Amino acid sequence: MQKPLITNRFVERFNLSTPIALAPMALANGGNLAAACARAGALSLVGGGYGDLVWTQREYSEAISLLDGNQDNLSRLGCGFISWKLAEDRSAFDWLLDQPQKPAAVMLSFGDPTAFAKILSDLNIPVICQIQTMAQLPQALDAGASVIVAQGTEAGGHGMNEREGRNTFTFVPEIADWLAKHSPQTILLAAGGIADGRGLAAAMTLGADGALIGSRLWATTQSLATESAKNIALQASGDDTTRSSIFDILRGKNWPEQFDFRAIRNKLHRKWEGRIDELRSDPAAAMEDYASGAGQEDYDRAHITVGQDVGLINDISSAEEVIDNIGQEAARLLNGGNTGKIATRRLA
Ligand SMILES: Cc1cc2nc3c(=O)[nH]c(=O)nc-3n(C[C@H](O)[C@H](O)[C@H](O)COP(=O)(O)O)c2cc1C
Repeated sequence: MQKPLITNRFVERFNLSTPIALAPMALANGGNLAAACARAGALSLVGGGYGDLVWTQREYSEAISLLDGNQDNLSRLGCGFISWKLAEDRSAFDWLLDQPQKPAAVMLSFGDPTAFAKILSDLNIPVICQIQTMAQLPQALDAGASVIVAQGTEAGGHGMNEREGRNTFTFVPEIADWLAKHSPQTILLAAGGIADGRGLAAAMTLGADGALIGSRLWATTQSLATESAKNIALQASGDDTTRSSIFDILRGKNWPEQFDFRAIRNKLHRKWEGRIDELRSDPAAAMEDYASGAGQEDYDRAHITVGQDVGLINDISSAEEVIDNIGQEAARLLNGGNTGKIATRRLA
């Protein structure tokens, strides 16, 4: 890991080279991507997602094995889970906490984090809560979160639906102001739409201590997304994604109503737009077709999960290169155009 160009409390607290966290992307960020990001100096959260025990065991163990006993790199490895799903099955969470290598942090998103956050806090494992509205903030802090991720609706994957969700550009500074007043020790990360150094610098200017990045790190050589999905994403612009529950219905996922999902608005999505009730009431044939499309990597019939920042992704390079480029560019922009070590702090 190279010496940090940007130093702040997030970088210092988690022993990072740059104020970036790899988002825990279900099924997309496994051991290989998490290990690469940890080696590059980012906080790396394996995509524990729905808490599938076998998947989490395999991918988390793969990351540990790739990091090969290097304590510096291992100190940046953690995992993320979906809270409402953990309430149904917490076996992967329990397995993780039984491992000899304590996770650097565990991120909880979507639903009440309280019960799981308490278990983590009792073990001195930092709790990261991803939230989408101001109303969720007190619950996350009461649960014991030491890091809050403010997720805007630009983000790839699940988030708050358009009716209730917030955009990153107004949500981050509003949370920053609230935390400065009520919980100044809490670290704040921005999520949703951050794919380059401009985005990271903007997020930090808005009061965040760093960024949680999903889509840009999905589009790297080490992610588990298929080559064909990555190539389609490369051709897409930010206009080409949308939010809805269509892909959740087609995958048989029973997400709470307030959350929906951003992905590329493909032929399959367009087919069901305006007919969601019809799809929900009789999904069997459509689900079968979706599963067959996914099996054949036919992305007219299966989905590709990326955020609006897909339009800023122009190559599939390694995660190390992506993290390095974002860090360098952000440092230059935050430093008035000169690359050099800078320290940032939350605006009071
Ligand atoms: C492919 C993909 C899968 C995701 N899966 C999860 C998940 O399992 N749990 C979670 O908390 N967030 C998940 N997210 C959302 C991220 O945590 C994060 O909020 C988002 O990626 C940030 O926006 P960006 O994609 O523009 O960087 C996912 C995002 C993507 C792109």
